[in-house]
Amino acid sequence: MSLTAVTPTTAPAATTAPAARTATRREYLMCPPTHFDVVYAINPWMDPAVPVDRDLARRQWTELRDTYLRLGHTVHLAEPVPGLVDMVFAANCALVVDSQVYGARFQVPVRQPEAPAYRSWFATAGFGAVDPPEYVNEGEGDFAVVGDLVLAGTGFRTDPAAHGEAQEFLGRPVVSLRLTDPRFYHLDTALFVLDDDNVAYYPPAFSTGSRRVLARLFPDAILATEADALVLGLNSVSDGANVVVAQAATDLVAQLAARGYRPVPVDLSELARAGGGAKCCTQEIRR
Ligand code: ARG
Repeated sequence: MSLTAVTPTTAPAATTAPAARTATRREYLMCPPTHFDVVYAINPWMDPAVPVDRDLARRQWTELRDTYLRLGHTVHLAEPVPGLVDMVFAANCALVVDSQVYGARFQVPVRQPEAPAYRSWFATAGFGAVDPPEYVNEGEGDFAVVGDLVLAGTGFRTDPAAHGEAQEFLGRPVVSLRLTDPRFYHLDTALFVLDDDNVAYYPPAFSTGSRRVLARLFPDAILATEADALVLGLNSVSDGANVVVAQAATDLVAQLAARGYRPVPVDLSELARAGGGAKCCTQEIRR
């Protein structure tokens, strides 16, 4: 009996159509930039010598909020407190997973009063009393939730001991990542979550070991250019399909579109004067 020759077949043509992405409705907490200002310098983006255009900041922030509403998301507002010039950066106030609120403890004294102000918002919103954490951590500035994992930054602000504290409190695995470039002082200036399985980041912002961890966890990640990182392109907010991203991050916008995401460009240049972009202004509430 002779074996039938196997006719070689050509492999299916590589598909060029990007994957279909699915948006899910999100719940955000924001704080209007009523008292926004740059009066101290706690990161390399801030220069108190250059006056802030608060009306412009307000218009840009309002456009960001309206963008979320147009995308079908819910936006809650915290009451701005006079004198707390960075309170617009709501991402720093907590990390909320499974309706559990892990509160912030700010590193710098000038921002410390924001923590109780936001804790009282959560109490009023029905989350119960939020205990102050033991260790310094700047909320979603340094924590990012990807599916079941929590990525956690350290190096400039958040104490690595807070990573362990967050893991104990939330019951989610926390992966520590070390930031090494002071321009990218919070994790959310160097990395953002695209969906439950993937992220975008700027590799040189991380230590060698952390880059290896990221490459292992996210072999398909979108890698950003330095130019895009420097316009806070990685301070983006994705709902799984729509990605609210700094309009100046042109290469990133193109990469997102090529991967099947829908870039939604915004201009937050006036808030960037304090070192913050879209994500910094946005705390995600995960029920
Ligand atoms: N001026 C603020 C600070 O240095 C900006 C915080 C930006 N927020 C963020 N999630 N990266 O603390």
